[in-house]
Amino acid sequence: MVSIRPADKSDLSNLVALDKKAHAEKRWWSAQGRRYFIKLMRRRGLLFVAEEHGSLVGYVSGDVQAVKGKRRVSLENLFVERGYRKKKIAKRLVNSFISAWTGKGIKEMILFCPPQLEGFYNRFGFKLTVIRMKRRLTA
Ligand SMILES: CC(C)(COP(=O)(O)OP(=O)(O)OC[C@H]1O[C@@H](n2cnc3c(N)ncnc32)[C@H](O)[C@@H]1OP(=O)(O)O)[C@@H](O)C(=O)NCCC(=O)NCCS
Repeated sequence: MVSIRPADKSDLSNLVALDKKAHAEKRWWSAQGRRYFIKLMRRRGLLFVAEEHGSLVGYVSGDVQAVKGKRRVSLENLFVERGYRKKKIAKRLVNSFISAWTGKGIKEMILFCPPQLEGFYNRFGFKLTVIRMKRRLTA
């Protein structure tokens, strides 16, 4: 049975290892080091892990930012190990993250994601706000 809980210091090495797997799978994923996770652990609600039999199989992370004086929460990273997908682990992670910040005086949560995940995040009430485009500049 997979459990969802806030991350603690004993998760550090496993989080770094899990993040390397995310980077290996998705080229756009920037692998994070220990410092990133230590920073998030200092504030409640920014880092949740999915654990089964002592192994981490997923995590969600985020941050709180002030933009033009308005604070907002961003959901930054969400990853579930390949062999554990389609078991609603991501759903539980995202719901834990959203619950942690609901009713805490911050009005908005934002995130950036690849277009194919728009439908996934719509299910949690996220709506599309901007479209970011890019092109290659190689000759
Ligand atoms: C995206 C990811 C986190 C989903 O994890 P998961 O644990 O398989 O997702 P869940 O099982 O919780 O899915 C919850 C629901 O979302 C749906 N869903 C999952 N991926 C989806 C997608 N790409 N598009 C639309 N819906 C999706 C599921 O079908 C499920 O629907 P249901 O509740 O009706 O059954 C996982 O595939 C992953 O780690 N991918 C690589 C990293 C990545 O892309 N992270 C997102 C960065 S923004």
